[in-house]
Amino acid sequence: MTSTNQTLFEKSLALIPGGVNSPVRAFRSVGGTPIFFKKGLGSKLWDVDGKEYIDYINSWGPMILGHAHPQVIKAVQEVAANSLSFGAPTGLELEIAELINKLVPSMEQVRLVSSGTEATMSAIRVARGFTGRNKLVKFEGCYHGHSDALLVKAGSGLLTFSDPNAKGVPSSAGVPAEVAAHTLTLEYNNTQQLKDLFAQIGKEIACVIIEPVVGNMNLIVPDQEFLQTLRELCTQHGTVLIFDEVMTGFRVALGGAQALYNIKPDMTTLGKVIGGGLPVGAFGGRKDIMQCLAPIGSVYQAGTLSGNPVAVTAGLETLKLIQAPDFYSRLAAQTQKLVEGLKAAAKEAGVIFSAQSVGGMFGLYFSEKCPTSYDEVMHSNKEAFNQFFHSMLDSGIYLGPSAFEAGFVSAAHSDADIAKTLNAAKVAFSRIKV
Ligand SMILES: Cc1ncc(COP(=O)(O)O)c(C=O)c1O
Repeated sequence: MTSTNQTLFEKSLALIPGGVNSPVRAFRSVGGTPIFFKKGLGSKLWDVDGKEYIDYINSWGPMILGHAHPQVIKAVQEVAANSLSFGAPTGLELEIAELINKLVPSMEQVRLVSSGTEATMSAIRVARGFTGRNKLVKFEGCYHGHSDALLVKAGSGLLTFSDPNAKGVPSSAGVPAEVAAHTLTLEYNNTQQLKDLFAQIGKEIACVIIEPVVGNMNLIVPDQEFLQTLRELCTQHGTVLIFDEVMTGFRVALGGAQALYNIKPDMTTLGKVIGGGLPVGAFGGRKDIMQCLAPIGSVYQAGTLSGNPVAVTAGLETLKLIQAPDFYSRLAAQTQKLVEGLKAAAKEAGVIFSAQSVGGMFGLYFSEKCPTSYDEVMHSNKEAFNQFFHSMLDSGIYLGPSAFEAGFVSAAHSDADIAKTLNAAKVAFSRIKV
């Protein structure tokens, strides 16, 4: 008998490209059919056929409290009754700006948007407006949303370095080469490449944008000296340092990666947790930079639904709850427990595997040791991951459908959830045949 899931997917394929509204949801990398969900509660999800899962995607990060947290849902319902949108200021926007500023003090001024993509795109425009420069530096394997200038890999970092004026190569059709030409890409964690690039063209670089802990090529942890050098070089050359904390913000620590690594960026972008599951993004930073924005400055940026009261309320309630004492120590401990258990299970099964976590984010790699760059991630055993993924899915454990995505634990994940996951993993590791 055909499942409801299969029927929905087949019908979706006719009307929605690939059957999904964001490519990462498709099972292209692992094969098989994406799961259609109808309900979530705490750490659990239920699909349209009634099967239960423990969720380690958490909507790709936002659901740090778990699904359908009663306090968030109640606040959203109450505020929704007063209208879904005004297109005019509300006190809620001030409240969340104050809270963001308190939790991430480098964000002296903040502007709200509706997605992480808008936040990074706008931050870059402000940085360019502020410096009067065009060049933008990003790192290989980092993802900053789907705006034109950021969909560039620019070949390997080494290639870019050997010709610092090399044109960035768009990694998507539809991005004009002229737009990509201003984007330079370096290797993550490569301090020497950074130094060499700045020595050659430092005064032409408007901004450097970085995931301070990477979650978009699986989890990659930064080298402290690399981040420190980046900070110093940007200061020396008048380059705006943008920490893209759309994923890491309120996820690796209450104050984000900048608090964890004690580095103060000039600008920060936020998304995911800040909306608690509804569409909110934010960008902000030094007041002198943010003052370049319209209506006071000449850098234009706008949004019909920016600061939408319902979305902001979901974010506000989430940000209030994550300030509970021990919230982050417990989240980090649960995530660590998962990672250590997985490593032990793999070892017992004789599978080449490594894993690590930062706060509530984790990375699983079918390789000897945790990778530190895009190149190293690419050398992990993708086929072993795919077999592991499908066995876990059969057992009701929902992991990201790609060997190159980080995973997320929420505050709702219990010891019983972790134990069930590890039991499933023992079976999964024992089945791997590559
Ligand atoms: C670090 C980072 N920046 C930006 C984005 C884009 O955010 P959104 O998908 O909300 O546009 C993402 C999305 O995963 C992200 O992980």
